[in-house]
Order: sequence, then structure tokens, then C-alpha cells
Amino acid sequence: MNTIAIVYYSLEGHTKYLAKQLAERLGADLFQIRPKRTYPTKGFPKFFCAGRDASLKWNVALQKPLPELTSYTTVLLCTPVWAETTSAPMYSFLKQTDLSSKQLFFIATCSGGSAKRCFERMQKASKGASILGEERFVHPSGETVERDETQIASICSLVKEV
Ligand SMILES: Cc1cc2nc3c(=O)[nH]c(=O)nc-3n(C[C@H](O)[C@H](O)[C@H](O)COP(=O)(O)O)c2cc1C
Repeated sequence: MNTIAIVYYSLEGHTKYLAKQLAERLGADLFQIRPKRTYPTKGFPKFFCAGRDASLKWNVALQKPLPELTSYTTVLLCTPVWAETTSAPMYSFLKQTDLSSKQLFFIATCSGGSAKRCFERMQKASKGASILGEERFVHPSGETVERDETQIASICSLVKEV
């Protein structure tokens, strides 16, 4: 039985791409989080709505069923950085899910800024879980495979060791 799960939220595809790469490499099961109300993907409305929800820690409604993680021991959580912190859908998922018995690895994608506050918020929301590590990627895609290889390999070897 598979013991590694990857849970991701992605608005524009970068985090999804990375999560899929990791799932293939680790042979992990992949789960996508989807908000009930999808975010705009363009221009000012995208930055306004998504930035506001992340900054204000809004608990956004998520599509059901949520990922069923009972049987997994290790969970990789992948999110974009929004307004220097965790995306609202990932934060909402963490607030609704008891991961205290899991070993977690936090993964953030961004456009070049810091992911420090994003990881801090994820850690706080996952109450008592053991944290294996955290990694930040800048716009991962098919074009950054070589650049990202060392980071991806290091996540995989750390997670497989557990
Ligand atoms: C509302 C919003 C706020 C963002 N804020 C930041 C930020 O503070 N720092 C940063 O480096 N990137 C920021 N970004 C860029 C995303 O983190 C980056 O494009 C990410 O890879 C997108 O992941 P996705 O394609 O899976 O949605 C922001 C993007 C959006 C939509």
C-alpha cells in the first residue's frame, strides 16, 4: 500500500506541474484541492481576489470530497505563494484537516519572492505534525527541469528515507 501522498493546489499550473513530477518520481498518490469558487486567472481580479483571501486568511469553501489521507504516513503539500504567504485554498485545507499524526513536507512555488511566511503559516496550521522539510521553487515547468533536478532529487531521497 502506498504510504506517500501529494496534495496540491494550483491556479496557473506551475504547482500542478511540480506535484505531478514529484508523484511520478516517488510513486506517490496525487490529490488536487479545488475551491468551490474558482479564482480569476487574469489581471487585476486575479491578484485582488487571491491576494485578499491569502492575506486575510480566508477559509474558502473547498470541493468535496477532500483528500482522504488516513492511510498515508507522509504527505507533501504543494502550494503557490500568494501575497508572500500560503494560498487560501491550501490554508483552508490545512485548517480543515487533522494532519497531526503525519510527516509533512512543504513545497511552495513562487515568482522569485520569499516563501518564509508561507511555510510558517503552513506549519502553524498543521498543528503538531512532524515537518520533514520545505522547498521553494521559482515557476517550475517543463523548461526548468534541469535547473530543478537537484532540489527534486533531494526531496525524493529525503522522503524515501523516512
Ligand atoms: C494573488 C497572487 C499573489 C502572488 N504573490 C506572490 C508573492 O508574494 N511572491 C512571489 O514570489 N510570487 C507571488 N505570486 C506568484 C505565484 O506564487 C507563482 O506564479 C506560482 O508559481 C503560481 O503557481 P500556480 O501556477 O500553481 O498557480 C503570486 C501570484 C498570485 C496569483
